[in-house]
Amino acid sequence: VDLASIMEQPEPPVLPSSQNTLSFSSNSAAFLQSYLPSASSASTEKLPFVTLTYASSLDSAISLSPGIQTILSGPESKAMTHYLRSQHSAILIGANTAIADDPGLNCRIDGVGGYGGADLLGQPRPVVVDPHGRWLQTLTKETRVLRTALEGKGRAPIIFTNNNTTIPAAKLALLKEYGGMHVFIGPEDLDQAEGVPTAWEGILKCLASKGLKSVMIEGGGAVINSLLSKRFAPVVNSVIVTIAPVYLGKGGVIVSPDRDDKGKPTARLKDVRWQGLGEDVVMCGRLSP
Ligand SMILES: NC(=O)c1ccc[n+]([C@@H]2O[C@H](COP(=O)([O-])OP(=O)(O)OC[C@H]3O[C@@H](n4cnc5c(N)ncnc54)[C@H](OP(=O)(O)O)[C@@H]3O)[C@@H](O)[C@H]2O)c1
Repeated sequence: VDLASIMEQPEPPVLPSSQNTLSFSSNSAAFLQSYLPSASSASTEKLPFVTLTYASSLDSAISLSPGIQTILSGPESKAMTHYLRSQHSAILIGANTAIADDPGLNCRIDGVGGYGGADLLGQPRPVVVDPHGRWLQTLTKETRVLRTALEGKGRAPIIFTNNNTTIPAAKLALLKEYGGMHVFIGPEDLDQAEGVPTAWEGILKCLASKGLKSVMIEGGGAVINSLLSKRFAPVVNSVIVTIAPVYLGKGGVIVSPDRDDKGKPTARLKDVRWQGLGEDVVMCGRLSP
């Protein structure tokens, strides 16, 4: 990662915001605690603590199709997602999710910055891995994550692109104006030989170097499947999956990593706990080596 390409971050301008808060009780949060980063967990590590989390249907789909945002889980699980965001210093998504969902990528838990709290306290830094700049090309003042930053309800994003991707100067200027950053992924962090768009260690090391000690990786399918592969699973500390009582049917975006040993499962969780949440079930675990 070429750290020299990181831009200076001015404070984003702040507009008054309407309150739209969520709460998640400490009772509900208790079962999650041992799967979350602690104050000590990442301070001595080179990589941030990584939590992989997503909502899935009963047939392992996370959306009806790649370009469609699909609400799967109930309001309690939504509050949990925002609670999880409040427990991480960054939240990361792939380019397709940024394009399809136009997400705000902030935390709306009562008491965090912008939702009753001071400044941007408790707001995670959004990170979009966009190797070919497909999402960055679409960035305008109306892009939700920038609007959210402008309203003082979240931080502006860090965007990673490949170092051979040409980024229009106007898009970089816009990103900088809102307090965002652009980082080139250097050739050493690409893994084209294995057909992997990016090697995660470089991105994670760069985030750690910026003081981001924990990252919640939210999707979409390609990013999750990549991180569940044998090659990258070691960078994942916890997996938290919400399973909603719905079948999306064939044709959806599926969580199902490549199998590299046809005779064995690709990944298995250990230290597993299940918890009902509204009509959903939340499963927490750690990836076995
Ligand atoms: N239910 C949930 O919890 C949930 C959460 C998030 C998203 N989603 C849904 O998931 C869908 C999008 O998923 P998706 O699978 O199409 O795309 P995705 O995982 O969001 O993005 C894939 C893109 O990210 C880039 N990328 C960078 N590094 C990568 C790596 N190591 N491995 C794979 N991709 C990498 C690539 O961009 P380039 O091709 O430009 O190189 C790739 O095409 C949307 O419909 C969204 O709504 C659901």
